[in-house]
Amino acid sequence: MQISRNFMVIGVAYLCLGIVFGMYMSGSGDHEFAPLHAHINLLGFTLMTVFGIVYRVIPGMAGSALARAHFWMHQAGALGLLVMLWLLLSGRIGEAGMVPVAPVAELLVLLGVLAFAVNLWRNA
Ligand code: HEM
Ligand code: HEM
Repeated sequence: MQISRNFMVIGVAYLCLGIVFGMYMSGSGDHEFAPLHAHINLLGFTLMTVFGIVYRVIPGMAGSALARAHFWMHQAGALGLLVMLWLLLSGRIGEAGMVPVAPVAELLVLLGVLAFAVNLWRNA
């Protein structure tokens, strides 16, 4: 699997989605979705692009099991969290409905970042 390319390609897809939410907010004046827009752009585009660039600049990091674990944990965690945030902000669920999926998704993002940190420590 091309970790670097996959992170960057998926990241830019999140950017397109984030911009659409931004345009909707500025057009409608409804800024209710600002946290969702912010995290689609930051957790989706910005972080994934940074990760993709790091795995490209330091190829020794990209082939390891840690990189694959990071990739899948970040994909599952970010998507899970963003879907839960959308459900919350659109009024489909309440705060209580965020549990247990949102905390698990947050933990996945964190564990992925820890795998990235260990990989950096060993191979950068
Ligand atoms: C055409 C592109 C974009 C449009 C039209 C747009 C529009 C908006 C709008 C209307 C808000 C709500 C502001 C508020 O309620 O105070 C917002 C918030 C935000 N946007 Fe964007 N945005 C765009 C692109 C981006 C990108 C590329 C990023 C990051 C990489 C970004 C990051 C943020 C963040 C972090 C906030 C939350 C700021 C806060 O709550 O203090 N936006 N954006
Ligand atoms: C698992 C990961 C994350 C969780 C659980 C999380 C959670 C939150 C929460 C609860 C807020 C407050 C929202 C509000 O007051 O309405 C927030 C705001 C914010 N976060 Fe995150 N965040 C995460 C990752 C990130 C990352 C990776 C970035 C930047 C690269 C980031 C940037 C921001 C910014 C700029 C705001 C203020 C924008 C706003 O109020 O909408 N977050 N985050």
